[in-house]
Amino acid sequence: MQAPGTILGLESSCDDTAAAVLHMGDGKGGAEILSNIVYGQGNLHAAYGGVVPELAARAHAEKLDIVVTEALAAAGLDLGGIDAVAVTAGPGLIGGVISGVMCAKGIAAGADLPLIGVNHLAGHALTPRLTDDVEYPYLVLLVSGGHCQFLIVRGCDSFTRIGGTIDDAPGEAFDKCARLLGLPQPGGPSIETEARLGNPRRFRFPRPMLDRPGCDMSFSGLKTALLRARNELVSEQGGLRREDRADLCAAFQAALSDVLVEKTRRALDLYLAESAARPVLAVAGGVAANAAVRDGLNTIANQRSAAFVAPPVQLCTDNAAMIAYAGGELLATGARDDLTLAARPRWPLDQISPAMLGTGKKGAKA
Ligand code: KG4
Ligand code: ZN
Repeated sequence: MQAPGTILGLESSCDDTAAAVLHMGDGKGGAEILSNIVYGQGNLHAAYGGVVPELAARAHAEKLDIVVTEALAAAGLDLGGIDAVAVTAGPGLIGGVISGVMCAKGIAAGADLPLIGVNHLAGHALTPRLTDDVEYPYLVLLVSGGHCQFLIVRGCDSFTRIGGTIDDAPGEAFDKCARLLGLPQPGGPSIETEARLGNPRRFRFPRPMLDRPGCDMSFSGLKTALLRARNELVSEQGGLRREDRADLCAAFQAALSDVLVEKTRRALDLYLAESAARPVLAVAGGVAANAAVRDGLNTIANQRSAAFVAPPVQLCTDNAAMIAYAGGELLATGARDDLTLAARPRWPLDQISPAMLGTGKKGAKA
């Protein structure tokens, strides 16, 4: 299939049920989003301090046909106007992934459409091509509640991972620290707001793994440092004052963004050593919304004369437009799945680099 045309995308690998309709351009980058519907499950999991996989899977199963109907209606199309179905086939919480894959298979079989399974991380990693027509190879930092890795993106199915977190993802760290300070979820925006009022130098939190070479990172120690500082204040003063909270948030955000920015500098140097004609540093994932992180990455890119691409926040967070787009690029290479397509809880984008171990609150790390 050379010109994939109009793609219906489905996403259900974590806590967002999403469907989108997208019209591919010439298959060489760029596309038109005709609709992009996302139902978040935040309220469903709020009481549990993390995503409950069984609840997530049931909610996806209930909502998928609704989001598909809405996405088609918002695009002004019915299935007759769709040329192919793309679906997240992993990595993620397996119940949700199965729900999406089964739904996509049903649509593909019923409407006699080509089917393509997409790696969720590839969806994030290819978003800079969807939004900004970026040329291969580019460097992307995926940084969200469930993911944190540097990838050199060489093609729609060719990725080299050159580093990532060995424990928590940064969004997870933001969320946990917000909880420790009694701030609302998601923690990232709450901490960023508090941090604006605070002094980042009153507390000196660690910058983990900066003393070690390479681009791997660790964020779990930061929440321990914050917990210790909070407990000391509480035992000294009997509680936290407004300015204490703001200073703790500012110190935490400064430490986290220092680590991300320094490791990005190293990743960028590795990527630039490969001499891309028009070098690009891109970012994707919910934490890309953070102004301190964004500004730090932008500065690094400027210093190295690389372009900096940060897609709009609604395309950085989980959505199905990115899945439709990645599916469209894969279809244009001739790739195709059939009704044997399997849902995969783990699916590293880079099959050669050593796997990162562990699971986060949002499922297996890839
Ligand atoms: O990409 P995303 O919507 O979902 C996945 O994790 O896959 O990212 C959500 C994460 C949450 O952990 C949230 O706290 C974080 O992104 N986040 C932020 C900000 N906005 C969202 N972190 C820091 N600063 C922000 N402004
Ligand atoms: Zn994601």
